Amino acid sequence: MILNTLRLQFRFLLPLVLTLVAAAYLALPLMDKLTLRWSSRDLSLRGELVTRALTEPIAEALPEPMRQRTARLQALFNRAVQDERLFAMALCGSDDTIVHKSGTYPADLGCAQARSLSAQTLAQLPLASGAVHVGMHPVVVDGERVANLVLLHDLSFVERRSQDTQKYLIAFMAGLGLVISVITVVVAQLSWRGWVSGARALLRGEGLLSPLISTRGELAPLAADFRERLRDLEDSYRRSLDRDDHWGPERLRALLRSQLRGDELMVVSNREPYIHEQRGDGVVCKRPASGLVTAVEPVMRACSGTWIAHGGGSADRSVVDAHDRVMVPPGSNDYTLRRLWLSAEEEQGYYSGFSNEGLWPLCHVAHVRPVFRESDWVAYRAVNERFADAVVAEARSADPVVLVQDYHLALLPALIRQRLPRATILTFWHIPWPNPESFGICPWREELLQGLLGSTIVGFHTRYHCKNFMETVDRHLEARIEHEHSTITVNKQTTLIESYPISIAWPDEQERQRWPAIADCRDAVRRRLGLSEGHRLAVGVDRFDYTKGILERLHAVERLLEKYPQWVGQFSLIQVAAPSRSTLDEYQAFQQRIHQTTERLNTRFGLPGYLPVHLLAEHHEFEAVNELYRASDICLVTSLHDGMNLVCKEFVAARDDEQGVLVLSRFAGAAAELNEALIINPYHVEEGADTLHRALTMPEAEQRERMANLRTTVRDDNVYRWAGRMLTDAARWRLRERIEARMQRHNGA
Ligand code: F6P
Repeated sequence: MILNTLRLQFRFLLPLVLTLVAAAYLALPLMDKLTLRWSSRDLSLRGELVTRALTEPIAEALPEPMRQRTARLQALFNRAVQDERLFAMALCGSDDTIVHKSGTYPADLGCAQARSLSAQTLAQLPLASGAVHVGMHPVVVDGERVANLVLLHDLSFVERRSQDTQKYLIAFMAGLGLVISVITVVVAQLSWRGWVSGARALLRGEGLLSPLISTRGELAPLAADFRERLRDLEDSYRRSLDRDDHWGPERLRALLRSQLRGDELMVVSNREPYIHEQRGDGVVCKRPASGLVTAVEPVMRACSGTWIAHGGGSADRSVVDAHDRVMVPPGSNDYTLRRLWLSAEEEQGYYSGFSNEGLWPLCHVAHVRPVFRESDWVAYRAVNERFADAVVAEARSADPVVLVQDYHLALLPALIRQRLPRATILTFWHIPWPNPESFGICPWREELLQGLLGSTIVGFHTRYHCKNFMETVDRHLEARIEHEHSTITVNKQTTLIESYPISIAWPDEQERQRWPAIADCRDAVRRRLGLSEGHRLAVGVDRFDYTKGILERLHAVERLLEKYPQWVGQFSLIQVAAPSRSTLDEYQAFQQRIHQTTERLNTRFGLPGYLPVHLLAEHHEFEAVNELYRASDICLVTSLHDGMNLVCKEFVAARDDEQGVLVLSRFAGAAAELNEALIINPYHVEEGADTLHRALTMPEAEQRERMANLRTTVRDDNVYRWAGRMLTDAARWRLRERIEARMQRHNGA
């Protein structure tokens, strides 16, 4: 590695050294010329001074007779040329003849030649003894030039000076080169080490604790992306490892027996898996429209145990025993449903208020403003306490495995941890987790985070939501975050943050045998709606919720009929909208708007016997929904934001004919897995309309290819795998804790 850096540095240093040598080479003659010019100017000035000093004695000597004059000038010149720099001198008369000259004056240098030389820039004359500077200066007496004094200055000192300058320049360049090289080498070494150790720290998940710690800020975004990418790769690697193994109820049961040693399993959620309703004199049992129930219920059927949930059905009380328990599913009694009763005020504050007017819009980017009321928060806390009481009351051991579900129960994990410190608490957040800034507007953000971090594991659908959660904790709590292991430690409690994409139970052969044939479903649905045999259908199945993008879906249908009028009379959307949270203003306004838009569309494009949109705003049991899935050409899932969305997976599971097109919002968690769907931005109406047209005209072969791949994905990544992965992680965790406890006992003994 060092060799590599040196080679790298050499590549940089070589051109630097060459540049410095070239600079010195070019600079030297220039320096010479400049030195000479400056010296020549100095000597001219010096000559004027000398001339001024000699003017008076010369003026006195000139009128004297020849002999005295010569003697006086001789003495004067001899004294003058004793000066180290003055080599020779001569006095020229007004007729340009030499009146007198010193002994060193060159014999062949006349007055005229001296004048012309002195007029040149460098005024230089080469002699055998070395170059001299020639200067001719007027001797002026009473304003009249009486003679000219020619002064020859020795230039050898200029050469010495120039040689000195050259020496200094070369030494300076060499020094400069050396300093630059040393700085370069040091900085390059440090930077390289910084980068390498930064990257290694990243790979270890520690962040950029490099020697150049100051680079952390600049590289932080890169670090986060890098870390994310690594986690994604790790996730898909982990999934690909056990892809060949089929996950089903049997395997999940085996896992519970072997890895969790048959430990007690409890699920806690707000929504119950079965709702008993009074209908006339009788009681009917309904399955609620809830992704949570769709996913968790098969797991409970496979594993048994107790499910604690709010009993909200009108006949719920009438079917429970003295301990508020009832065995479900009706007929097979696989597990216990323990119902918890809430007063109207509790339900209002905890469920409608804090959960659905506060946390729901807070976590979904659907442009509805969250509402936080103190009274709702008080109710939320109190109801979470009540769920904790129920968990403690139902627990048969000190270390049950408790699966806490969703945003209604964010405080529950810490409350259970206080009372059952050895419990394994797996919390799954079924909706998206927003970024730290968005979450930061919640007045009780710290309490919610602390509540969740009472869990052993907090699970999300996607890594992106895990990342958001970890960043939120980092922003709002004092916590130790280990990215390498994806853990957060607060007050000695360590929580694993992991992504577990939720899914559905893949229908087994027996179940599929019970389904009516595709052709029968198509006929039945078309007959019911009074549509022709070849009429094309899209289906949407949602809770009647503003996050589901139902309005955007209607706009896409409207645009389709405008842009591709051949579909008017030939295509309809069946929109199932299960009533949901209808006591809330926001939901009422939204539901009203959907009814109005549907009416407008039906008026605009409807024909005798034809409606472009059939809005079925009522609860549908699974069989009815499944019939619609099997009868339709397209399934539309256009959520504005969704944790996962299981409707799309149910549609895929229903299409054992490998036909039908799934149109899926890119803002649903499922879009990350179901790549063969037609992925759209639901806000882009034009794209929605074009995609609908494309789906309606997609050849059967392409539909088959896409659907076959989608089915493989959903079948393999089914809900048993989801629960299996979580429980395997929990088992590993429990084992680790048991070993640690044993070691502590051993050390203490
Ligand atoms: O899947 C998200 C979720 O909020 C579940 O928690 C809930 O059961 C479901 O949607 C239906 O909502 P609600 O329970 O309010 O009817």
